[in-house]
Amino acid sequence: MLAPSLLSALTLVSAAAGALAATADQWRGRSIYQVVTDRFARTDGSTTAACNTADRVFCGGTWRGIINKLDYIQDMGFTAIWISPVIEQIYGNTDEGEAYHGEFPLLGYWPKDYYTLNPNFGTEQDLNDLVTALHDRGMYVMVDIVVNHFASWGDGSIPYSELVPFNNSSYFHKKCWINWSNQASVEQCWMGNGQVPLMDLDTENTYVVNTLEAYIADFVKEYSVDGLRIDATKNVRKDFWPGFCKAAGVYCQGEVWSNDPSYFCPYQNVMDGLHNYPIKEYAASAFQTSKGSLTNLVSVASKLTNQCKDVSLLGSFMENQDNARMGSLTTDMARLKNYAALNIFSGGIPVVYYGQEQLLTGASDPNNREALWLTGYPTTGANLVAYFTQLNTLRNAISTRGKDKGFLTAKPIYKTLSASVLSVRKGNMLLALTNAGSGAAAKVTADGFGVGVKLMDVLACEETRAGWKGELPFWIGAEPKLFYPKALLAGSGICGL
Ligand SMILES: *[C@@H]1O[C@H](CO)[C@@H](O)[C@H](O)[C@H]1NC(C)=O
Ligand SMILES: *[C@@H]1O[C@H](CO)[C@@H](O)[C@H](O)[C@H]1NC(C)=O
Ligand SMILES: *[C@@H]1O[C@H](CO)[C@@H](O)[C@H](O)[C@H]1NC(C)=O
Repeated sequence: MLAPSLLSALTLVSAAAGALAATADQWRGRSIYQVVTDRFARTDGSTTAACNTADRVFCGGTWRGIINKLDYIQDMGFTAIWISPVIEQIYGNTDEGEAYHGEFPLLGYWPKDYYTLNPNFGTEQDLNDLVTALHDRGMYVMVDIVVNHFASWGDGSIPYSELVPFNNSSYFHKKCWINWSNQASVEQCWMGNGQVPLMDLDTENTYVVNTLEAYIADFVKEYSVDGLRIDATKNVRKDFWPGFCKAAGVYCQGEVWSNDPSYFCPYQNVMDGLHNYPIKEYAASAFQTSKGSLTNLVSVASKLTNQCKDVSLLGSFMENQDNARMGSLTTDMARLKNYAALNIFSGGIPVVYYGQEQLLTGASDPNNREALWLTGYPTTGANLVAYFTQLNTLRNAISTRGKDKGFLTAKPIYKTLSASVLSVRKGNMLLALTNAGSGAAAKVTADGFGVGVKLMDVLACEETRAGWKGELPFWIGAEPKLFYPKALLAGSGICGL
């Protein structure tokens, strides 16, 4: 007879059949495509349905729409998606022109009821079908969750009794607006404002903590979630997170919006991974003009490698729903390719914001939340679809073929090769980037290769060879170079090898 604990473990396994519920280590080799559910694809497959981002209203994207467009995502080499929060939000529109947090409700950051799904995105069946469709393709699903706050229209008489499961003001911190220079205030006061207050959950309260842990454990099982994206991580005390993420039992990637490694890195001691904001912010200033500082990027990268627990578990992104798209910072195709290459190979788990591949140009919120269907989802022509495909294909080949086992965990080393050329070495790979812009060319020398080793620039499919000291002098135009040992590519199909 089976011991009861083993029996219940087996029951759990069969109940979660088809679930991939993945650990941090299993996520390390993945590449994530970030979907804003309302703006990615509609159930009717329309490529003309209007969506004026300035209106801040629902445009009709759905889970069913995502299911119908999974080929588009998977064909680019992505092996996971991150979707907007799935739970019910507060509804209605505020008076036009009220100054508050953009269209957060449409993105799902204004929770009202943890146990009801957002009907704008579809039904329970639709969400289950999306997860099943992903798992059938061997892809993971990361769901965005918000446990820092709930939302209300106005801060007068807040309808606490309608909030599920925290239906009493006693579960929330007392109202005070955040002073962002004071960490205690960041953790215990409220975001938002008098128009849309985001009532801060009292995550010091044991009942609240226990309820959140029980909830997330159920939620992950109920929807067979493989990983969580955690909103507003720095707005909750650090020692709340280990218990919460343990209860979830899957990889957690948190939002800690800071470009300061000494503030940022300690959060990786309480959560598997974080969006790599420091790299993103320094990369954006380094690559948007030829005058950007590569030295500052090198400096922050080395601080992250030294101070963070494991940079290979950070989420490497260049765009997201809260920041200006790279296409709004520069229109130079060569620079945009440099961002794309760094997005995939900066050292962590790539996270690509939907639409970056289509060179969308929205600047700050709400303009950076365009309806992707209006592009018609082209896969050829003047966009970065083929480029991201090429980058992901290489990374996936390294991750899955087992010929370069140290690659995923190798610590990235950033170095300037000249004022306008940067190299990022990760294990056997060397990525060379430049902010010089279209038309530029320079000769530089990288080092650290095996003596006389044959290398392939896998972006151009050009073979070269390191010298007697492992050095590699090479010409770089305006676009990235990506050198990798030719021998390790044998049988991969990459560059015909
Ligand atoms: C709050 O929720 C609990 C649990 O669902 C319920 O028993 C209680 O009646 C609710 N209280 C109010 C004021 O709605
Ligand atoms: C909310 O909680 C407080 C403190 O536990 C209690 O006194 C009050 O009756 C509760 N309110 C409602 C509406 O349940
Ligand atoms: C915000 O917090 C900082 C640091 O504690 C403090 O110096 C400052 O006075 C506070 N600002 C306000 C408006 O309270």
